[in-house]
Amino acid sequence: MTSLAFNPDFTFGAATASFQIEGASTEDGRVPSIWDTFCATPGKVRGGDTGEVACDHYHRMPQDVALMRELGLQAYRFSTAWPRIVPAHGEVNQAGLDFYSRLVDELLSNGIKPWLTLYHWDLPQYEQDRGGWTNRDVAYRFADYAGVMYEALGDRVDIWTTLNEPWCSAFLGYSSGEHAPGHQDGAEALAAAHHLLLGHGLTVQRLRALGLDRPKQLGITLNPNTIHAADPADERDLDARRRHDALRNRIWLEPLFNGKYPADLIADMGDLWPAELIHGGDLELISQPIDVLGVNFYNGETIAADPGADVESPGAPHPRTGDTKGVSRDLPLTAMGWEVHAPDFTELLVQLDREWTRPNGTYLVVTENGAAYDDVPDEDGFVLDDGRLEYYCQHIAAVRDAVEQGADVRGYLAWSLLDNFEWAWGYEKRFGIVRVDYDTQQRTPKASARWYADLIQAQPANHAEE
Ligand code: FCB
Repeated sequence: MTSLAFNPDFTFGAATASFQIEGASTEDGRVPSIWDTFCATPGKVRGGDTGEVACDHYHRMPQDVALMRELGLQAYRFSTAWPRIVPAHGEVNQAGLDFYSRLVDELLSNGIKPWLTLYHWDLPQYEQDRGGWTNRDVAYRFADYAGVMYEALGDRVDIWTTLNEPWCSAFLGYSSGEHAPGHQDGAEALAAAHHLLLGHGLTVQRLRALGLDRPKQLGITLNPNTIHAADPADERDLDARRRHDALRNRIWLEPLFNGKYPADLIADMGDLWPAELIHGGDLELISQPIDVLGVNFYNGETIAADPGADVESPGAPHPRTGDTKGVSRDLPLTAMGWEVHAPDFTELLVQLDREWTRPNGTYLVVTENGAAYDDVPDEDGFVLDDGRLEYYCQHIAAVRDAVEQGADVRGYLAWSLLDNFEWAWGYEKRFGIVRVDYDTQQRTPKASARWYADLIQAQPANHAEE
């Protein structure tokens, strides 16, 4: 354990997201989100699961915060639900604001730092009815909602994230169709990507104008990935890798940190990427300085060329990559089928720091990392989750390695505090360090949670006075 010691100012915590845990989906003036609609569409979510009850966190929030305190969490990353706050354009739902205000007060009074994410995928359905993220105007409405949140909570919340993993919103939402709203259209996905970034930029501008300055912190969370070429000596595999890297990583990093889109990406996408998409001034908004880049990491990937296959790839997340394919590295897999290989994480953090964030005066925080395994509870609901525990141990060590190699990583938030609604997988996949029995809503910390609590307790920060 002592080998996993971090600087005294390194923050350990856990993360969740509104739709995945809150439930109470029709209470206190919340209106439907695209995920409510998606859940109600047959065949979209495993088992027909919905967010109606989820972990019932909306009603159990004080007990959940008490649990965080018991585990010694120093920070808690949650998201606010746009459909709870803005029931119709131009309206504000006070009951929705009150819930998050109570949550923030509860966290602060328990000594836990609130970390607020403004968008973790639950777009109001009324915005999707106007085209969702394919409609440029939605970016402006996002900034309006963000301004409402900041005016309500800016006095008490010091860390603000605009978007969570816009890659998923754009490419799983509008290209693969695996996520709400479930479209399969490459041009829509690219328009959504730009409008998400525009929404980020407008929000940065709005929150800075409302007074969000240091020491308060502002940023965005991405899910950049380490992408390997299957055969690094094969030009075709290298080119396949380059194209995936452009769509997964550089489509976000280049505009955010360098104020432009990657030229190779625009060339690859051809008519799917119309010049009119980008208006004058957009890239200046998108590239305003941010304090922190949140990194969500689960697994790396390996890509090969698939010569002869059709480049068009309907139903794939990445448009125009049909002539490429993912390749297995024969590594251990989690219950999601995701590879476990922590060195990919170190490589990613070091590379992000060196090439993107450090030159821009931005630091890194791991805003999500964790794993799903097929948990088997004993009769008391306790789960001896060796696989997950081992995953955490290896990946926190990987963060420590990145720090030792010079990367400016200042925190680590486990995904997730609770088992919860895992999007298209419903409640089948469990990512929690705390088990949730969905019949009784009982919470039981798993072995991984106990281990994590001990790790936090053993940090130098907790022994500064000794
Ligand atoms: C991330 C999401 C999070 C959760 C994990 C497993 O992509 O941000 O909500 O579903 O994956």
